[in-house]
Amino acid sequence: MKNVGFIGWRGIVGSVLLQRMIEEGDLNYINPIFFTTSQYGKLAPNYGQNQKILQNAFDFDYLKELDIIISCHGSKYTDCVYYKLREIGWLGYWIDSSSSLRMKEDSIIILDPVNRQHIDISLNKGIKTFIGSNCTVSLMLMALAGLFNENLIEWISIATYQAASGAGANNMRELLLQMGELYSQISYELQNSSDNILLIEKKVSDFMHSGKVSTKFFDVILAGSLIPWIDKKLDNGQSREEYKWQYETNKILNSINYMIPIDGLCVRIGSLRCHSQAFTIKLKKNISINDIEKILTIHNNWVKIIPNERESTIQSLTPASVTGTLNIPIGRLRKLNIGLKYLSAFTVGDQLLWGAAEPLRRMLSILI
Ligand code: HSE
Repeated sequence: MKNVGFIGWRGIVGSVLLQRMIEEGDLNYINPIFFTTSQYGKLAPNYGQNQKILQNAFDFDYLKELDIIISCHGSKYTDCVYYKLREIGWLGYWIDSSSSLRMKEDSIIILDPVNRQHIDISLNKGIKTFIGSNCTVSLMLMALAGLFNENLIEWISIATYQAASGAGANNMRELLLQMGELYSQISYELQNSSDNILLIEKKVSDFMHSGKVSTKFFDVILAGSLIPWIDKKLDNGQSREEYKWQYETNKILNSINYMIPIDGLCVRIGSLRCHSQAFTIKLKKNISINDIEKILTIHNNWVKIIPNERESTIQSLTPASVTGTLNIPIGRLRKLNIGLKYLSAFTVGDQLLWGAAEPLRRMLSILI
């Protein structure tokens, strides 16, 4: 059995990865070894593996014995360890959720329902570095891959509604804390339905401006608001999150001769772990909504068409309905007034599943 090293397995993505591996029985086919950057020597979680003790994540002698390493520990760890491991001759497979190695020439961005053929060809060529894409990218591709596959997309403009989990576990906690802090200001007044809503709102808004809200991780209040900026600013005015769509998508699709333009605005909202995205798509030709729905549906087992009706949309095309599932609903499909080649669509996906852990889990299964 392959020796597989897990790094960052206690974090939010790592925990979802392990949970999925347990659900699918993946641990029966590998010999897992759990690493830590701070608690080596302590007991590892027990999945019946040989190595019961947590190992040092900077122990290069141990790391270099592994067949496969899966890191969910973030870019800093990757930068610190990956190159040195390769330098000392390690020839194993590196699977990573962080962005650090994504755009390297000899790495492949993995999303096997979309680019399995590209993954297989790369494996045959001896590529050993496989990286998960940014969550917005994988969730968009899982929803729209049928149209990409049929070469029907000229460009896409996107607006996101991104969950707190994309910013990390502390941010999820902070969002919930902020919600509680707001509620506690007006919990008494809310019970009395005759209390003036504008007075209630003023009390909440005054508190939002008071400087007393917990904002250590988001810098500003997210509950009852939104943040139209994610990650650093680039020289062209995009945020780094916005930059990733076009470059990662085209790398996943291996579009060598033509870079499909994809751009838009990334916005953080107060959902917990589902990212939503609204698309304006310029199609290369005018095709019917019926045909578009067929093309999208047959691409993979997870994408689900939600009819463009109020009831099915509010029931099935929301973060609340998708959270914790692998479903990729896509709806609000209609031609825009702008012209017959302009399509609108809206999708929701669990940012920790298809957006992060699931492509890594499936890559490990491909290797095994
Ligand atoms: N960058 C994403 C976000 C999560 O901030 O929502 C990572 O894929």
